[in-house]
Amino acid sequence: MLRIEKLKKFKNNFPILVGNKAISNHLCASLIKEISSSETFDDLIMGGRSRINKGSKNFKKYINRSKISKKLFQLFNTKKFTIKKKINSTELKALLSKNYKHPNVNLDIDFSVSKGGYRLRPHRDDITRLYNFLIYLTDIPRKNGGSLTIYKKKAKKNIRKSFKRFPKMSELEIVKSFTPKKGTVVFFQSTPNSYHGVKRFIEKKCPKRFFIYGSYAQNTPVIWKYKDATYYPHIIYSKKRMLTSFHDANYLISEPKY
Ligand SMILES: [Fe+2]
Repeated sequence: MLRIEKLKKFKNNFPILVGNKAISNHLCASLIKEISSSETFDDLIMGGRSRINKGSKNFKKYINRSKISKKLFQLFNTKKFTIKKKINSTELKALLSKNYKHPNVNLDIDFSVSKGGYRLRPHRDDITRLYNFLIYLTDIPRKNGGSLTIYKKKAKKNIRKSFKRFPKMSELEIVKSFTPKKGTVVFFQSTPNSYHGVKRFIEKKCPKRFFIYGSYAQNTPVIWKYKDATYYPHIIYSKKRMLTSFHDANYLISEPKY
């Protein structure tokens, strides 16, 4: 159901694979039909994105009555993947101080539909994240926004010393924008510098933005090694909600003291 031979490497500051028509039009249509006929969504986030999230009762119901979504879910969710657990900043810090030889990997996936207003400010994903994937089910004209945008940190002296989770816009420059196209699949690795976001979606004379989002994450923080440098996550508790968690985390080349 997923034509992986369509996936091509993309030259970028972190690894990205893109496959056009990796999912057939017929399957896209079936998936849209299944998502559209869902009566309940688990949440409405990011200015207009309704999700059916793995782990919820609603998700179980949805999967049981949606043949194609179930097949797709099973394709990504082999038995070795565990369920994502919410971990707070204190727990994350405690986990970081231990050495795990074989951490668990979990799959998170949601079936989403976005209306106008949906946007996602540039960020890097949380420190447990390994890979992400996106499957676009509708064609969105370029002028309607909603594009997946890849950023890189502007070249500065400190470029290799710190990677904030939420850098200021002025610290970033756009590398590439992917306008959602029916059947396009994007995989990207989560690295300290894998900055991405979604430009505001304007729903005007165009379909809603139907898509599937998934990720693989460890149950422990990831320490990254690149060339001779090691990047350690520095976890900071936050009163404010940071996307889906209550902590901020920056990658620095110094070891944190917890
Ligand atoms: Fe993200």
